[in-house]
Amino acid sequence: MKCVQVRNMSNGRFSHLLRGVWLLWQAVFVAGTGSKLWEVPTASFTSSSNLSESLQDCEYRHLQDRVSITADIPPRLDGTWVSTRCEVRPGPEFITRSYNFHPSRHFTALQHYYTDSSCEAPAYSLMIRGKLRLRQASWITRGGTEAEHHLSKVGIVVHSLAAKQRLSSRLPSSCVGLTLSRVMPGKLYELYNTRAGRGCLSALGFSMMEVGLIRVETQHHSHGGKIQELFLGDIHTDWTQRTEYRPTGYQQPLQNAMHHLHPCPVCALVYRSSEHHPPVLPRSPAASLSLAGRWVSQRCETRPNVLFLTRDFTLNPDQHAWEGIYRHYSDPACSQPTFTLRASGHYAQGNPSAKVSGATEFVFKVTEVRITAMEGQTAKLLNGTRPGRCGLAGCWEIGVEQDLTPTDGCNLLGLKLPHKEYELFKPELDHRKHPLLFTGERPTDGTSPDRPQRRPTSFQAPMVLCSGFPRHYGSVFNNKQVQLATSGTGRLVQLVLLVLGSVLCSRFCVY
Ligand SMILES: *[C@@H]1O[C@H](CO)[C@@H](O)[C@H](O)[C@H]1NC(C)=O
Ligand SMILES: *[C@@H]1O[C@H](CO)[C@@H](O)[C@H](O)[C@H]1NC(C)=O
Repeated sequence: MKCVQVRNMSNGRFSHLLRGVWLLWQAVFVAGTGSKLWEVPTASFTSSSNLSESLQDCEYRHLQDRVSITADIPPRLDGTWVSTRCEVRPGPEFITRSYNFHPSRHFTALQHYYTDSSCEAPAYSLMIRGKLRLRQASWITRGGTEAEHHLSKVGIVVHSLAAKQRLSSRLPSSCVGLTLSRVMPGKLYELYNTRAGRGCLSALGFSMMEVGLIRVETQHHSHGGKIQELFLGDIHTDWTQRTEYRPTGYQQPLQNAMHHLHPCPVCALVYRSSEHHPPVLPRSPAASLSLAGRWVSQRCETRPNVLFLTRDFTLNPDQHAWEGIYRHYSDPACSQPTFTLRASGHYAQGNPSAKVSGATEFVFKVTEVRITAMEGQTAKLLNGTRPGRCGLAGCWEIGVEQDLTPTDGCNLLGLKLPHKEYELFKPELDHRKHPLLFTGERPTDGTSPDRPQRRPTSFQAPMVLCSGFPRHYGSVFNNKQVQLATSGTGRLVQLVLLVLGSVLCSRFCVY
């Protein structure tokens, strides 16, 4: 049946529709998470998942070893958790972490900061002591547990005179036990204690807000091994927000020192480090890798603001063409699909990044977007849009793909085609020398990196390369002027965008 009717559905104001969306989604999420949302979970329950369907037809051999993933709520944190690579935070900042949680609820966290993106040149280390209290299952980020922390002490060791110089442009001249002019490399100084204000910590852009959202995943491999990962809250991409931001997504996980990937030379170095002996990571082999091919998520990914998805991304450098398939889910195991978004267009490779060495700048253009509603609520929501604004109104059905290109995107979702994004990509090899692709982190506020100044400085979880090339590859290119929909004015619009829209309007492109 061909669905071509154009009907006037202009009863009800736009804001009502938006409000409806918000309430609807709120209802969906609440219904989906059970009734104990606001209580501290007492019994631990386990959610389990298999690898997402995006991998099923991807011939990525290492993942064919069946892995089931469990995540306890509340999470068990005891032990030491370490970085598995040089981590890049927005800024950019280059960091390795080693966090130790004690049964007494005390924690000690070591953070080592570097001047370079390979973590070869340590600048300074922070020794953080505090106490953590798990609160309740997160209402916003399903599968996560909220926690409160109390910092008791932060110490700093500066590792070189050059690092001291750089700190002097950020830190006040004196902080608790530290007077910058008298700082000697290699010596521990107190930067914060409970009697002091947080001024000096903020000046460094430091906070431990990341422990406000916690998830521990255990991967059970069919051969009997297990890997445990600790996901802590994400760091806001806007520097001015980061010390106050309550995380709703995660950073790249730390791995348990006892149960980690093998081999993991970085884990061992980080595990053995101290504030006086920061880990100096080996230079990662310069990955002059080709980006050509199909890249997929390694797991169900969690995004700030209630989003769970897997990415399936293909680059064709010969034609400068790309296609991304983003499968969205309502649960952290990626087992309940909500909708699938397929976007495509072309791209241009730019210069090597001056901020993150080893990374390259890109510009992506989205010219086509298709959406498939995978469940009733989403289908209904899209079905109710006004004719000509978001695909064929009244034609949305579960499992039927709609092309949004003829309507230049989707007005309800603040999505305007064509659309341009400024990106940062970094290829790397994993511990088994298999290619990984890091793509830029999306702005935490749900906007899109549509200007060069908004280009990411940090990365999302890496995707892995599938062998083989896509079977279908048809992209219609057009050269319409790029335009970005400025998404509404009201708070309501923002809420909607937070819940659903941001998925589409800001994450829909390259992700
Ligand atoms: C995971 O895969 C196994 C084996 O195919 C299956 O028995 C199990 O039900 C799956 N679990 C989920 C949560 O899909
Ligand atoms: C979409 O709208 C049409 C026309 O109003 C209706 O017949 C159809 O059942 C709706 N579909 C869904 C999934 O709501």
